[in-house]
Amino acid sequence: MTVELSFVEAGSGRPVVLLHAFPLHREIFAEQLAALAGRARVITPDLRGFGASPGPGDEPPSIDVLADDVVALLDRLGIDSCILGGLSLGGYVTMNILRRFPERVSGAILMDTKGGADDDEARATRARIAAAVLEQGTRALRPMLDGLLGETTRRDRPEVVRRVTGWLDGASPASVAWAQKAMAERPSSLDVFAEVTVPSFVVVGEQDTISPHDEALAIAQAFEPPVPVYVIPEAGHLSSVENPESVTGALRDALRHM
Ligand code: MLT
Repeated sequence: MTVELSFVEAGSGRPVVLLHAFPLHREIFAEQLAALAGRARVITPDLRGFGASPGPGDEPPSIDVLADDVVALLDRLGIDSCILGGLSLGGYVTMNILRRFPERVSGAILMDTKGGADDDEARATRARIAAAVLEQGTRALRPMLDGLLGETTRRDRPEVVRRVTGWLDGASPASVAWAQKAMAERPSSLDVFAEVTVPSFVVVGEQDTISPHDEALAIAQAFEPPVPVYVIPEAGHLSSVENPESVTGALRDALRHM
């Protein structure tokens, strides 16, 4: 069963839906929401379990569940198709919707995300994090900071480090564990991209170590023909928060071609 996702929206015109990363919420796109509202109807939901949306409930962990919620939100808002952008976990949900509901997507933007499935080591790490967070609470997530933020942010932007630390501390342990299991089970999406016929773009922080440049290229090159990659300077995995102006510029440029 789907849940009613909490969301904010701004602007009017073509719908652009931006899906956030794990284990965060729609605030990672606050600056893009404000900046792009002049040219589109920008909608930023909280995925199930995060921000102000309901928790995971009894559904077995699966990216399908997160995707179904987003499609239900589109139905609720009367949106037949939208430009769909997702960062990391949000990218996995975008890929799922491209596979299962391609008619709902008029353009795709894949940010700091990975096209392939997890290997055994990644699955084991997810199981460890899920167990640790249920046992110790969200302080078990603190080591994630180094991966989420690029070296420039960790060195020069203490306010961003503080903000993201607060977000990690505020996550729900049960939702974190649920989402880790959902991500561990997701299939590769690399076969999906060749079937995509709508304009698509890839965005990657130049200092992203979780979904590095090679992963971005693998996604871009799996499209036929390959799609452009915007590289965001001085940003790691959370590019939309670390260098919001540059991500907004990339999205603005991508929207011009959609
Ligand atoms: C995210 O930022 O959403 C996560 O890093 C995704 C993942 O763990 O694969």
